[in-house]
Amino acid sequence: MLQGKKILLGITGSIAAYKSAFLVRLLVTSGAEVRVIVTAAAKDFVTPVTLSTLSGNPIISDFYEDKELGTWENHVDLGLWADMMVIAPASANTIAKMTGGVADNMLLTTYLSARCPVMICPAMDLDMYKHESVGSNLKELQNRGNIIIEPTHGELASGLVGQGRMEEPEIIVSQIADYFAKEFDFNGKKILITAGPTYEKIDPVRFIGNHSSGKMGFAIAEEAAERGARVTLVSGPVSLSLKNDSITRIDVVSAREMYEAVLNEFDACDVAILAAAVADYRPKEVADSKIKKKDSSLNLNLEPTDDILATLGKKKTTQVLVGFALETNNERENAKKKLVNKNLDFIVLNSLQDKGAGFAVDTNKITILDRGNNGVEFELKSKEKVATDIIDYLKPLLG
Ligand code: CTP
Repeated sequence: MLQGKKILLGITGSIAAYKSAFLVRLLVTSGAEVRVIVTAAAKDFVTPVTLSTLSGNPIISDFYEDKELGTWENHVDLGLWADMMVIAPASANTIAKMTGGVADNMLLTTYLSARCPVMICPAMDLDMYKHESVGSNLKELQNRGNIIIEPTHGELASGLVGQGRMEEPEIIVSQIADYFAKEFDFNGKKILITAGPTYEKIDPVRFIGNHSSGKMGFAIAEEAAERGARVTLVSGPVSLSLKNDSITRIDVVSAREMYEAVLNEFDACDVAILAAAVADYRPKEVADSKIKKKDSSLNLNLEPTDDILATLGKKKTTQVLVGFALETNNERENAKKKLVNKNLDFIVLNSLQDKGAGFAVDTNKITILDRGNNGVEFELKSKEKVATDIIDYLKPLLG
């Protein structure tokens, strides 16, 4: 599964470190080359002799191999050597230091030098894990692109029962294998994505808009690009930035601008995923100067905008076309109608009835409906993980 992969395993001071010995063994039997860095506290829980025997490599713990001789461990070389750095278990202390950029031991300096993906497997007591500071540190690390493997629920070393157990080594190894397996599985594919709201001008200072944050579309763009796709993201006005600089970003404001940008790109793409919340109507006339307040009521005359998705549905040849439906009632029925009427390959439905789904939140709960009347319901999860589900669902359709 991991033949030839170079894994740098960091172990910190947590009782779960006893599982790390088994993790090393599994990584080695999966074909990986393993080097282990331990913090001083980790050595109280698992011995370097065990880890060096299992990994077949000396354990790294200090900055110096031999202080007398002046030989030192090169953390930069180690960071560059690894295909992936896995920190398991990651204690609350190490997580906080990683977030703050502290570099007071070999594990942390190597983390700061590493250019490879980093997987973090927290382990701690339930109340520590629930603490706001731990949660916000993990979120920050995830936002920076680290992969977080959430701890599981169960009996903890303290005797308490709750979330905090480091994920089992078998699962961690399969997550590492999944990461490498999906790496670049969209190589050469061109994917067009829309995101965010559109603003329809009323006068020079006012517009009709909506609450879309663009987070879902941006997460899909990042996921597709990470997996090797050439991504063009057409975005309405949002306050988001992209991590992956291979993504071509086209910023637009109105539905008309989005329509033109999307139509320009569509012929050359293999997939179009339209996640934007496009205005269905715009003011028929835009006032040249600010509309002044009067005592009487004000009526705006609205005209329909072009339906970008429906236009692509009519135009498509070999492209896979994916739409979104945000519904408040008769969700499946309404989404199915859109799927058929707009000639889509599948539609991603989110309901405003579901807690944690919809605009401006970091989570989403989706159901994917396809042309064969199949519906796959997913759990509530982060928009990043939802993006992975959507891209995974798309994969077999591309042949
Ligand atoms: N969409 C689009 N262009 C529009 C309106 C919508 O491309 N002018 C796309 C959205 O990006 C989304 C899908 O169509 O992928 C569904 O949008 P939605 O507004 O829910 O659908 P409508 O057909 O506008 O139906 P309604 O607003 O009546 O629910």
